[in-house]
Amino acid sequence: MGILRLSHVEIRVPDLELAAAYYTEVLGLIETSRQAEKVWLKCWDELQHHSVVITYAPSYGLDVVGFKLQEPEDLDYYEQRLAAAGVSTKRFGPGELGPGSGETVRFEAPSGHVVDLVWGMDQVGNMLPLNNPPPEPMGLVGIHPPRIDHIFLMAEDVDEVTAFFTEVLEFRLTEQIMADDGHQLCTFLERSHKSHDIAFIVGPNAAFHHVGFWVDDWNDLRRAADICSYHGVKIDAGPTRHGATRGWGLYFFDPAGNRNEVYTGGYWADPDREPVTWTESEMGRAIFYYEGVVDQKFLTVHS
Ligand SMILES: [Fe+2]
Repeated sequence: MGILRLSHVEIRVPDLELAAAYYTEVLGLIETSRQAEKVWLKCWDELQHHSVVITYAPSYGLDVVGFKLQEPEDLDYYEQRLAAAGVSTKRFGPGELGPGSGETVRFEAPSGHVVDLVWGMDQVGNMLPLNNPPPEPMGLVGIHPPRIDHIFLMAEDVDEVTAFFTEVLEFRLTEQIMADDGHQLCTFLERSHKSHDIAFIVGPNAAFHHVGFWVDDWNDLRRAADICSYHGVKIDAGPTRHGATRGWGLYFFDPAGNRNEVYTGGYWADPDREPVTWTESEMGRAIFYYEGVVDQKFLTVHS
């Protein structure tokens, strides 16, 4: 029982057509629904209706981050835990938040991010048969990551939001970067037994740093960089190695300026795994292990 994994992100874009073209043709997601000011998308191997929703807006950034619940009873369970922590919640029925949406408990985290806990999103399948399937459908375009992996957000008080996610939502801390004054600069939290489903780094409340999509190996990062360059998509950093999480990543921007990552590697985390701590002086290698320093634009550019 509980939160299973990252489910979806809802992102603002000022040019819906341009963003939809990028998310389908360059990133290679599948469009599942469209309205005048919203497009719903999924990665090819996800069974559920959407993992990315782009919404027309005059600004860019994150509207909602959603997590998938394992059982319908988890909706009441977290509603009660949030109420006990003094957090007000709002409940939405199936379909009430748009095409394919499941039953949802919505609230605001101490970092100012709107969070949805969702059970029962429509299942649309992955275009593969259940009998004798090939490893991948034919005809996919762009990078076509099989699934969403993690989200990385910013918070003024990383200690506070990390405590909220661990104590109220029952996430487990896998890694942290500690400031010399004893505060957390960056934390990695998981529910799915991966290195992280969500991470926080110090910065403005409600800010969105990046959403990460899974690819299967290092060679896919090279291929993703080729595809970004071919389409004139600005690469921000990588392909490179992260010290924290031990993953490999490549960062680039959607046409609105929202940062995307394709990510692979990392470890599996049992619930009894002890958190790893990086010191402030090693923050460079924690984030970019080869370069050893964090490019300032990586910390200051966000949406
Ligand atoms: Fe990431």
